[in-house]
Parts: sequence; C-alpha cells; structure tokens
Amino acid sequence: MGHRRRITRRGFVGGTTALLAYAGLSPISARASSANWRRPDQLVSSPLWQEADDYDSLVKLNYNENPYGPSDAVLKAMTKAFKYSMRYGYPDGGVRSVIAEHHGVGDRNVLLGAGSSEILEVVGLSLLGRGKKIVGVDTTFEAVYVHASGINAEAITVPLGDNYRQDIPALIEATNKHHDEVGFVYLCNPNNPTGTTVSAAEVRQLLDGIPNDVPVLIDEAYHHFVEDPDYATSIPYVLEGRPVIIARTFSKLFGMAAMRLGFAITTPEMIARMTPYLTGSINALAKWGAVAALEDVQAQQRVRDVTVSLRKKAVRELAEMGYESIPSETNFFMLHTGRPARRVGAAFRQRGIAVGRLFPPLPNHLRVSIGTEDEMAAFMTAFKEIFAA
Ligand SMILES: Cc1ncc(COP(=O)(O)O)c(C=O)c1O
Repeated sequence: MGHRRRITRRGFVGGTTALLAYAGLSPISARASSANWRRPDQLVSSPLWQEADDYDSLVKLNYNENPYGPSDAVLKAMTKAFKYSMRYGYPDGGVRSVIAEHHGVGDRNVLLGAGSSEILEVVGLSLLGRGKKIVGVDTTFEAVYVHASGINAEAITVPLGDNYRQDIPALIEATNKHHDEVGFVYLCNPNNPTGTTVSAAEVRQLLDGIPNDVPVLIDEAYHHFVEDPDYATSIPYVLEGRPVIIARTFSKLFGMAAMRLGFAITTPEMIARMTPYLTGSINALAKWGAVAALEDVQAQQRVRDVTVSLRKKAVRELAEMGYESIPSETNFFMLHTGRPARRVGAAFRQRGIAVGRLFPPLPNHLRVSIGTEDEMAAFMTAFKEIFAA
C-alpha cells in the first residue's frame, strides 16, 4: 500500500467501529476521521518526460485529458486574441456573460479561475480560516484536501460506500456531528478517480440532511460525460440561494487544460467572499477560446460521443478477459487489476504508455484515461502483454 498513515488509521477505525457497534452506537460517525493531508510524495507533479520528443511519443492516459485538443473554431478564436498579449485591459468576448447565459444563471453568479483548480483553491482560502475543516469522502479529487493542508486546515473524511460510491448518509452524519468546525463539504460529481456519480436525489438528500448554512462545493469537472439519467447538475441550488458552489472546467470536454480556465457558479454572497483571493490570472487566449468553445456544440458532441464509446469498448473488452472496472460516467475508468497497480503502471510506462498514478486506498486499481482510438488500441495491446505474464 505504501502509505503508513492510512493503514494505521484504517486499523484503528475498524477497532473503534466494532467497539461502538457492541455499545449500540452508530458505526458511521466512528468511520469519519480527521487528518492532515500533507503528502509531499504525491504533491510533486513530476514531469514524466525530459524531452519534447519523448513527450510527443508517449501515450498519455494519465491525467484525464481530452486528447483531441481545442476545436478549429476555438484555435481560431485564440489565435485572434494574441493581439491583446501586451494588455491588462482588453475586450474579452463577454466570457462571463456567455458562461452565465449558457448555464441559465446571471453574470453575478459566475466567477472565473485559472482552471477549476484555482476555484477549488479559492474556496479553501475563503472558507477554511479559524480552524474550519472540509468534509468529504476518501477517495476523491484529493488536491482539495492537500491544498487545505497547505493552509493548515484538516479534512474530515469518510470512506467510500458500497460499489465505490460516495456515502451520502456518512457525509451527512459527519457534517452534522462536526457542524461548528465545518468550513465546507466537498462533493466531486462525478467522482475522480472512481468515475461514479451521485444521483440528483442523493444530492438533495445531502443538502436536506445538513444545516442550510453549510457551504457545499460540488465539483462537476466531468459533468459533460455523464449519461446516467438519475444524475443532474446542481446549478439550480445556486438559484435557490443555497450556499452551493459548482466548479466547472474547460480542461476536459473542451480540451483546454493547458490554457487554464475554469469557473464557479455560486451565489453573489459567496462570490463576494471568494473574490479577494483571486488575482485575475486568466489569459486573453483562454477567455476568447472559451467563448468559441461554448458555441461549438458540434465539437462538444463529437468529443463526448467518441470518448464515451471508446470507454465502453475498453471496459467491455477488459471484462471479457476477466478484469472488471468500476462503472464510470466520465472520460476515464478504474480497472481492478487484481495486482499492485503501481507495478502495472510501471510496466505500461516501459511500453511508452502513461496511466494514472496510485490512489492509496485502492492499491489494486488502475485509473485509465480515455485517449484516441489508436491510443486505446496501444493500451489494449500492452495490457495483453503485461497480463499474459
Ligand atoms: C475532479 C477534478 N476537479 C478539478 C480538476 C482540475 O482541473 P482544472 O484545474 O484543469 O480545471 C480536475 C483535474 O483533473 C479534476 O479531476
């Protein structure tokens, strides 16, 4: 497993759970644990390549990126925006209004960030002062917890529930139990790295089950890939006035990860709290690219269709060989390898394929991002070689 803190904590929690069950107390609250997520070993996002050539030939199935990149219309819009490169103030295509209109909210509900990472960071900075903590599941997009640890805030985490899904009753119980300490609840929907969704009814259950003054950060980075009819975006809660922050990104469906653009949809009150922590770090190309990307509905459809169909194909072929995956609604899937994923990942890397890193509580699961058809074929060839051995 290679992660001493978790092993120790799990062992301890198991014992406590048994004890509380014996005492007739609810085991769920006992499963929540508070910890500092400082993980220097995982924080360093070390480059996998030294030379551009090496990078170009690498099959990159490790960061849940869109392998096709921005559409022609987006590239054209970004190219035109180069003429503003030397300016601080310049026309920006009305990007904030375009995003607002596209999502059925007002301009005052939208806050831009350099990637949704900046939004997640700013939520932490604005809501985690004075000993406040995050409540969320483990395993999820833990960058949120790691960032919190950098500002000396802790995360109260509950393990995933059945079928690797987020355990909503456990999140409710942990939030209510620690109400005075909770800065915000983090819900990644769909969840990275498991790829599972939380249904619209479960989001409602969570929001109804906790005090309505507790902010909830709902990270919808993979929203566009979801097909499950029980899922829905949580944007309408913002319009109801709940302190809910929806984080979205242009890095996935829109293929603009290196351009760095994301946004929050939230209440004007929450935006007022968050704004002092932003420095206007978004570049002109990203703004104009985003406007064109939202308009290019055909490109969106193309990427969504090919990605989902390649994911289904890969998952089906692997299942036929006896390897199951966690059902995913995203542009990646978690494959149960039945052996240490770290070693499997190294074997893929030797064959020129980068796959997801290790996610500690799931040591035998490999996260595979969906690449192009050729890249997925290379993955399957390598898989057969590695697993034949
Ligand atoms: C769940 C989730 N949230 C946020 C991000 C950050 O994306 P970005 O900063 O590129 O918008 C990622 C990136 O992979 C992610 O998986």
